[in-house]
Amino acid sequence: MTMTASALLEVNELVVTYRPPKRPPIHAVASVSFQMVEGKTLALIGESGSGKSTIARAVCGLEHVESGQVLMDGTDLCAEKDGARAAGARGIQVVFQDPTSALNPRWPVWRSITEPLLSRRRASKEEHLAIALDLMVQVGLHASMAQRRPRELSGGQRQRVVIARALANKPRLIVLDEPVSALDVSVRNEILVLLDALKRTQGLTYLLISHDMGAVIQLATDVAVLYLGKLVESGPIEEVVRHPIHPYTQALIRAVPTVHGRRLTDVQTLVERPSAPGEIVGCPFHPRCPMAVDVCSTTAPVGQKVRGRIVACHRAQEVPAGTSEANCEV
Ligand SMILES: Nc1ncnc2c1ncn2[C@@H]1O[C@H](COP(=O)(O)OP(=O)(O)OP(=O)(O)O)[C@@H](O)[C@H]1O
Ligand code: SF4
Ligand SMILES: [Mg+2]
Repeated sequence: MTMTASALLEVNELVVTYRPPKRPPIHAVASVSFQMVEGKTLALIGESGSGKSTIARAVCGLEHVESGQVLMDGTDLCAEKDGARAAGARGIQVVFQDPTSALNPRWPVWRSITEPLLSRRRASKEEHLAIALDLMVQVGLHASMAQRRPRELSGGQRQRVVIARALANKPRLIVLDEPVSALDVSVRNEILVLLDALKRTQGLTYLLISHDMGAVIQLATDVAVLYLGKLVESGPIEEVVRHPIHPYTQALIRAVPTVHGRRLTDVQTLVERPSAPGEIVGCPFHPRCPMAVDVCSTTAPVGQKVRGRIVACHRAQEVPAGTSEANCEV
């Protein structure tokens, strides 16, 4: 894959294999490649266990990568001794699903927010407090909360603290792994609106992981669909969601009902859990694919460009434009 001028991050043929003792290896990510363009939001979608969080952790330098590259500014984070530190130094931050476990329960809010600065900046407590207060304003938290402990905050407020902490190091790319799925429905939308506003005002780029299609449609500009550790389709969100080409994307998107207000269902439970990653020869989707032909069970399809997106399916060219109209609003 060639690097385009505007690519902020490039993931090349990433392979992550878990090797639990006395159990067969789990091929969680099986040669995944994609690029993150500055200012865009790429959503990774797919069923539970498809490898989304593993990719997220690899991008943050938190995962042991078997092979492949995660290039940020031309530096391969996988080749660095301390991948997490290298990722942070190059402007990558992460917001996970559960804000409670992400925060030190004994620390006041202001200290958690400026935690990323502790090792890099020699500043007084007063300076850190001032930085924290400024970040709190940016994420919609009242300054009076600075001295509170996490248990004294609501779930939504705690997630705002985590987002403020992610902003402390002036990031360029934020990895959002299920950022709203632990929150009440009423708070979920407020956090999505905040994330969208921060992206625009601070020129951020997001890698979003969510099984909530409403959140994906609200935030993402592009989407990549994962199936058993492989990318099956990727491209602009409007194209992929409106006219999915890959049979798996079609199944995934078609099963999402259209509901006013774009509160759409969960993509995680739409189709039954198949085999474990890496168990299948040929196209990983062939045991469940209504379009499967002989070659599908012997030869894995490679990604090809079809109408502005990349699709890994032997029959991708046969799907006429606009025929796979999905029933979900974008
Ligand atoms: N630390 C680990 N040790 C062994 N296997 C793991 C580990 N972490 C993940 N896996 C396995 O790797 C595969 C991918 O997991 P991953 O957490 O990346 O999926 P996911 O798409 O994020 O799923 P979910 O939607 O449930 O969060 C799964 O089969 C999972 O069981
Ligand atoms: S390659 Fe074959 S089995 Fe795989 S999605 Fe395409 S038609 Fe279905
Ligand atoms: Mg996950």
